[in-house]
Parts: sequence; C-alpha cells; structure tokens
Amino acid sequence: MSLSSLIKPLVAAGITAAAITSCKPGDVSRQTPIHINPNMDSQEKYKAQSESKFFEDGRTMRTPVAGTVAHGSFIADITVAEGKDAAGNFVKEMPSLAAIGFKGDMKAFLERGQNRFAISCVPCHGAVGAGNGIIAQKGYPGVANLIDPVTAARLSPGQIYSAIKNGVNNGNMRKFDAELSVSDRWAVTAYVRLLQSTLAKKVEAPASASLKRVMDSKRKLADGSGVVADEAYIIESIRNPMAELAIGGMMPSGMTPFPEAAISNAQVKDLSESLKTLK
Ligand code: HEC
Repeated sequence: MSLSSLIKPLVAAGITAAAITSCKPGDVSRQTPIHINPNMDSQEKYKAQSESKFFEDGRTMRTPVAGTVAHGSFIADITVAEGKDAAGNFVKEMPSLAAIGFKGDMKAFLERGQNRFAISCVPCHGAVGAGNGIIAQKGYPGVANLIDPVTAARLSPGQIYSAIKNGVNNGNMRKFDAELSVSDRWAVTAYVRLLQSTLAKKVEAPASASLKRVMDSKRKLADGSGVVADEAYIIESIRNPMAELAIGGMMPSGMTPFPEAAISNAQVKDLSESLKTLK
C-alpha cells in the first residue's frame, strides 16, 4: 500500500471525528475545547498573580533585579532621568522638550500634563493642587498644598519630578514611576508649575488688582500677535486658558481651565460683567 493511499482515509477519519465531537458555531459548552493541533492556549504556563512551585517565595510575578532598565528606556541624561544636576542637586529649570523627548509643542505638553495630573494627582491634591482632593477629604493625612506660596517657592522642578518618580517621605506619598513615563512626569511637573505660577501668586495679589483694566485692553500672545481682551476673549480665557497662550518662555503665566462643572455659564457671564466694572 502506497503512502498517499494511507493518508487519504486518515484525513477523512480525522475530519469525521472532528465533525462528530465538535460543537456547531454558537453552541455553549463547559468542556475544554478539543484541540486537534494543541496551540499556545493550552500550553503549560504561569498566569499573572498565580502561584509558582519553582520559586521559593511562591510568586510567579518576579521583581526585576535592582537596576534593570527595560529595553529602549535607558536615559543617559541624568537631569531628564532624575531631575538632578551632575552634583546631585535638584535642577531649578525644566529640561527642554527636545531633551525630554516630547514630540509636540508646549501647549500639547501642558495639556498632557494636565491630563495625567487629573488622573494621578487630583484624587489627593485636588483639582488645582490645593491639597483638598477627595482622598484628603476622607482623611488621608498631610497631603501637601502645592499652590501654597511658600511650598510653591520651595519646590524646584527637579524636586517635583523626583516626588513623582520616587514618592515623598518614605511612601507617605507613593511613587508614580510605573504609571508615568519620564516624559509624562515632566509634563505633570510643568503643569504643577503652571498651577503654582498662576494660583500661588494670586494668594499674594488679590485677583481683582491683576484683572483690573484687563477688559478691552490689548494682550500679547505667545506667537507675537496681539488681541483685544473683549468679552469673548475673557470667557474663552476662563473656559480654555491654554487656547491662546499669553506667554513667552517656558512657563505660561496662564491659568487652569475652568470647565462648566466648576464655573457655570451664568457665573462666567457674571465674572466678565464684573471685569467691565473694574475698568
Ligand atoms: C494618595 C495621595 C496622593 C497622591 C495620589 C499624590 N500625592 Fe503628592 N503628596 C501626598 C502627600 C500625603 C504628600 C505629603 C508627603 C509628606 O510630606 O509627608 C504629598 C506631597 C507632594 C509634593 C511635595 C513634596 C515636597 O517635597 O514637599 C509634591 C510635589 C507632590 N506631592 C506632587 C504630586 C503629584 C505631581 C502627584 C501626581 C502624580 C501626586 N503628588 C499624587 C499625597 C498624594
């Protein structure tokens, strides 16, 4: 008997067996599916959080050896990686976006920072960093007020970055190195600086003084163009302050956006009305 004449009946028998034993599409079964050709679904392997009989501590998930750097994530620039200079002091200036490796402009960078701050920091530090987030309200002790003028003056960019990367005070605030990439940590740092540069100063100078004569005055924008601060501009500045950055340099003297949930349309209208009377 030739080989091919042997294979034909075998294949036919295989298909018949598969047809008899398998379910038709849509059927539900509690049985383990039949694997004619066993694939990686059913190979022996450890699943996340499962027990290991191999390692002494019984843990399948292993801690990386100290100093392990994931492929492609080594950063030679110590300022970018640690927020420190060569002498080991916290840097007082933000690294450039190019050094950080952020592909985008300052507006995009701050928006990224705002977005990550809202997720990782707001629960404790509150919407504008005043230390009054929901977790602080529930009794988490000692949450720092980041926009307190004294704290804002004390914290350098390197220190804020380090607080995010390494945590603070032996884990009283835990570290966020796993959920925030190097670029994201700097973006959050920039956003915290933005909050501080806007709100910490306001504590010193009453808002009304700095807002006096804003209405209908000429404002200079980051791109060098000018704009008249009419009512529409003021309302846009409250709703979406980063839309037109009236800035130069690293930190815009802008402010945090106040969405409708924070300030209602009627309140915005009131604000712009009261700005008119300040003229
Ligand atoms: C679980 C609550 C919690 C979260 C979430 C949290 N923090 Fe904190 N943070 C604290 C507490 C508590 C302190 C005060 C620690 C201390 O001094 O004992 C603190 C202090 C700080 C400080 C001050 C450090 C100093 O040297 O004074 C900075 C800066 C800071 N946090 C930034 C952040 C940023 C940015 C995020 C988001 C990535 C964040 N925190 C998320 C609780 C939190």
